[in-house]
Amino acid sequence: MKTATAIAHPNIALVKYWGKRDTALNLPAVPSISLTLDGFRTRTQVIWGVEEDAVHHDGQPAAAAFAKRVTDFLDIIDPNRPPCMVLTENNFPVGAGLASSASGFAALAVAATRAAGRTDDRTALSALARQGSGSACRSLFGGFVEWKLGSRPDGRDSHGVPIAQRSYWEVAMVVAVVNEGPKAVGSTDGMEASRHTSPYYKGWVDSAPADVEAAKDAIYDRDLDALGRVMEHSTLKMHACMMAANPPLLYWMPATLALMAEVRELRASGISAWATMDAGPQVKVLCRRKDADRVREALTPHARSVHVLRPGAGARLDEEE
Ligand code: DP6
Repeated sequence: MKTATAIAHPNIALVKYWGKRDTALNLPAVPSISLTLDGFRTRTQVIWGVEEDAVHHDGQPAAAAFAKRVTDFLDIIDPNRPPCMVLTENNFPVGAGLASSASGFAALAVAATRAAGRTDDRTALSALARQGSGSACRSLFGGFVEWKLGSRPDGRDSHGVPIAQRSYWEVAMVVAVVNEGPKAVGSTDGMEASRHTSPYYKGWVDSAPADVEAAKDAIYDRDLDALGRVMEHSTLKMHACMMAANPPLLYWMPATLALMAEVRELRASGISAWATMDAGPQVKVLCRRKDADRVREALTPHARSVHVLRPGAGARLDEEE
């Protein structure tokens, strides 16, 4: 019996991943760019070699569907593995569009491979985490990260690549939580529904690579207005694509629109603040760190809670803390 514990943070996509070209290997139809955040985190312990498989989440036996995703992932690491115990905890809501699957599978990839006696490098761990949840491949790295499309049929070249470390730029992501309940349609099903039924899907996929290039240039130039413009364009295109699916996917709530209007007001008052939304109603606002308190104040009347998060570190073993 061997055990290992890992910590990972969620990442928020600045240029979104939405759509798969291969569901078995979980390969994306589009490249994407993200910012790993501190503050929110998943901590996961894996005990490799127990009596029978068990998955616990925040001290309780995990729901069957979640437990199956976890044990299926352990099977990818070693199809002949012994039964394992996985104990995972989050300090933020799960399944609500706050990227819990990203931090979850990044932490699991690091802890499980080490518990299995492996010493994979970060890039291999990123490609592995991708198979648990696509966005997880970006949480292996801190700061600004690109998820490369890759071209190999085995998917080994589709993984996160660091663009800029977390200390590179004094920005903050202000997360306005509108509703903490789990989403009705998960990202995996939502993407497939968009791929098969949305007439806008092709336009979404075809236009994504240029957004990634524009976002990278903006990051290299530390040009927040340029990054914000492409970020909002990417999220609104993704949501337009989902809304045009049949049946439609609409993750927003009235407060989502109120928060977006507030962000436009902030810009009109001279603050560079830019909104992005994932598969949920929460609004995440990118701004300069010095403006974060002002942004938080503006968002607070419309949200259940508001969190100011800074760029965070990549997934790591807990011993490294
Ligand atoms: C809207 O990574 O959760 O947050 O690969 O099917 O597990 P699966 O999807 P997931 O999707 C995240 C979608 C998104 C945008 C993003 O993070 O890029």
